[in-house]
Amino acid sequence: MADIDISLYNTVTEGKATILFPKSNEVFYNPVQEFNRDMSIAAIRTWSEMFMQEKQARIDKKLANTKTEEARAALAEKLDKKINPNDFNILEALAATGLRSIRYAKEIPKLRQVVANDLLDDAVESIRRNTIYNQLDENLVRANKGDAMRVMYDTVGTDEKYDVVDLDPYGSAAPFVDGAVQAVSEGGLLCVTCTDLAILTGSMHPETCFGKYNGMPLKGTFPHEMALRLVLQMLQTSAGRYRRYIVPMMSCSIDFYLRVFVRVYTSPNEVKKAASKIGVIYECSGCHSFATQPLGKVEIKEENGSERHSPGSGPPVNTHCEHCGSTHHIGGPAWIAGLHDKTFVSNMLQHIKDNEQNYGTNARMKGMVSVIQEEVEDACYWTLQRLCGTLHCTSIPMLDLYSAILNAGFKVSASHCGPQTIKTNAPASVVWDILREFTKKHPVVMANIKENSPARKILAKEPTIKVDFTRHPEAAAESRNGVRYQINPTPNWGPKARAGKKQKTDHAEEE
Ligand SMILES: C[S@@+](CC[C@H](N)C(=O)[O-])C[C@H]1O[C@@H](n2cnc3c(N)ncnc32)[C@H](O)[C@@H]1O
Ligand SMILES: [Zn+2]
Repeated sequence: MADIDISLYNTVTEGKATILFPKSNEVFYNPVQEFNRDMSIAAIRTWSEMFMQEKQARIDKKLANTKTEEARAALAEKLDKKINPNDFNILEALAATGLRSIRYAKEIPKLRQVVANDLLDDAVESIRRNTIYNQLDENLVRANKGDAMRVMYDTVGTDEKYDVVDLDPYGSAAPFVDGAVQAVSEGGLLCVTCTDLAILTGSMHPETCFGKYNGMPLKGTFPHEMALRLVLQMLQTSAGRYRRYIVPMMSCSIDFYLRVFVRVYTSPNEVKKAASKIGVIYECSGCHSFATQPLGKVEIKEENGSERHSPGSGPPVNTHCEHCGSTHHIGGPAWIAGLHDKTFVSNMLQHIKDNEQNYGTNARMKGMVSVIQEEVEDACYWTLQRLCGTLHCTSIPMLDLYSAILNAGFKVSASHCGPQTIKTNAPASVVWDILREFTKKHPVVMANIKENSPARKILAKEPTIKVDFTRHPEAAAESRNGVRYQINPTPNWGPKARAGKKQKTDHAEEE
């Protein structure tokens, strides 16, 4: 530490790390990403407990099948060396100042090593300097200068994989994914950030989204969930090439970026199921009802003990929407299976509650993970604004809408992607019936509504179900008591521009 001239630096403290940040601002640092780093630490800690238990269970199983005491002792020694159940390693492929890696080293127990890699000399120097300043062993935080892709491809054909691969690039993670799905160990965790949300949500250039992610975005009602589903599809498609498959642990849409945590395993049989977890999503251009078309049949038949896969049958919609007569937009192919693993999410929530003092953003973490825990699976979401906007009606109180859905026998929740969202397994016909009933008591002024509009088509029909608005006990979610959605945290909120590049706009990196 003696040879660091502290006067040249500002210090930034986050979690247990204090980072020297050059006054000349050469290396990338975005304070708004503290939430991303807090969430990542909590996610990796949660995963690591599962991962290490699983490794121990594999060792125990092998030992249990070994007969003599002597053979058991020899095997135990061999396995302990080979599958060390007590530690793991991380690759932060795009590490900038090293803040994230240093936090990982200080805040994640049982971490054997984090390789903090960056392409730039300045960044690698910063990682080294900060490792020393934080009094960490340079073997625990190993600074590495290299192209992220090359570092990950170096693991191909070897047993030297990384148990966690963390991709936190400028903009899209797409260019790094092929390497990452090969560099992560069996059951390891892939943590991926994408900040190019303008592209992923289709607010501009859907064709660019297709070029990068091999899927078309849908910007209508659920752009952020669609964005998550496009990223997961890309991860699965890339993994599938190497006989690997992903299991999403938690998929988060946060402010101006996405962060997904998926486990990666190898199994040709599981890869065969990918076609039924990927599909296209139709969204009506008039009333925004949506329907999902899996590419592979979801029901996998058992034939003589082996699974039979067949192409999906469809489409699930007519050429024109059955509710309003409009045509559909087609999005995807996208991941249409679950976005989160319930056990993982509830373990992570418990971990956050037990360790609040460790996380500067703990209130928001608890809020978001609680909403995620309550999310209805396998469905995109409606928004109150779109539903009532389509019908030109006054806003239905959320509790009335939720209660009516629950009273009709369906599940409902919010989405963590945004306030006033409605995720439900109720078909669109039920949702429209509820709104039809609501407008009976809160009539729509039809005078200004065009002849062929979705509102006229939908309201011309009578409800086919008996709608019951009686307050349902489950309509008020527990998570409502926490910080569920974030207002813009700072005036300069957004992805930051590359280090050293003049910042024109806060969203310079979104493209
Ligand atoms: C968004 S910053 C990373 C921020 C960091 N993960 C954190 O949490 O503070 C992106 C970093 O990626 C580095 N980078 C860009 N392309 C790279 C590549 N191909 N290989 C390695 N690093 C790269 C940049 O130099 C930059 O420091
Ligand atoms: Zn429609």
